[in-house]
Amino acid sequence: MATNITFHPGSVTKPERDDLLKQRGVTIWLTGLSASGKSTIACALEQHLLHLQKFAYRLDGDNIRFGLNKDLGFDEKSRNENIRRIGEVAKLFSDASAITITAFISPYRQDRAVAKELHDKASIPFIEVYIDAPLSVVEERDPKGLYKKARAGEIKDFTGISAPYEAPENPEIHIRTDETSVVEAVQKITEYLVSKGYLS
Ligand code: PPS
Repeated sequence: MATNITFHPGSVTKPERDDLLKQRGVTIWLTGLSASGKSTIACALEQHLLHLQKFAYRLDGDNIRFGLNKDLGFDEKSRNENIRRIGEVAKLFSDASAITITAFISPYRQDRAVAKELHDKASIPFIEVYIDAPLSVVEERDPKGLYKKARAGEIKDFTGISAPYEAPENPEIHIRTDETSVVEAVQKITEYLVSKGYLS
C-alpha cells in the first residue's frame, strides 16, 4: 500500500474529451458463463460502433489473462483481483472517452458491484449487460471443450460446474443468447446507448 501520494487531476476534463470525440466514455460490462456469447457480442459491438464512427475498445477475459493478469488463476481470490483490475482499467479507458466493452465471466456480484461503484464515484456510466444462456446450452456449445474437461474433473473451479456464477439481479440489459441473434444483441445494446444520449 503506497503512502504519501496525492491525486493530480490535471486540467483537461472528461466532458472536454467526450465533446472532442462526439461520444460519451462509458463502460459496457458484459457478464455471463463461459461460452454464453460475451466475446462474440463484444467483437460484433465494437465493429458496429466503428461503422458508426465511434471509438470503442474491447477488454476480453482470455486476452487480458495473456498479459496484465497472467499472474492470476481461477480460485475465488484470483477472480476477485482479476475483476478489480479490470474495473480500474475499464474506468481509465472510459475516462479517456472510449466506449469500453468488457467481456469477463465476472461471476461474483460483489466484484461487479465494486467495479460499478468505482465508475459511479467518477460519474462514468456503467452498463451491466447479462449475457444469459442456460448451462445446458453453453455445455452443448462447449467451443473450447472446457465443460467436457471440467465434468471429467480435469479443470477445477470451473464456473457453472465446480465454481459459482451469480447472475445479475437488475442488469441494465438482459440478452438471452439462446433466443437472440448476435445482430439483435448488438442492436439492443446500441439502442440503449442511443436512448441515453451516449453516442452523440
Ligand atoms: S473471471 O471469472 O471473470 O475471472 O474469468 P475471465 O477472466 O473472464 O476468464 C474466463 C476464460 O478463461 C477460460 N477458463 C475458465 N473459465 C472459467 N473457469 C475456469 N476454471 C477456467 N479456466 C479457464 C475460459 O476460456 C473463459 O473464457 P470464456 O470466453 O468466458 O469462455
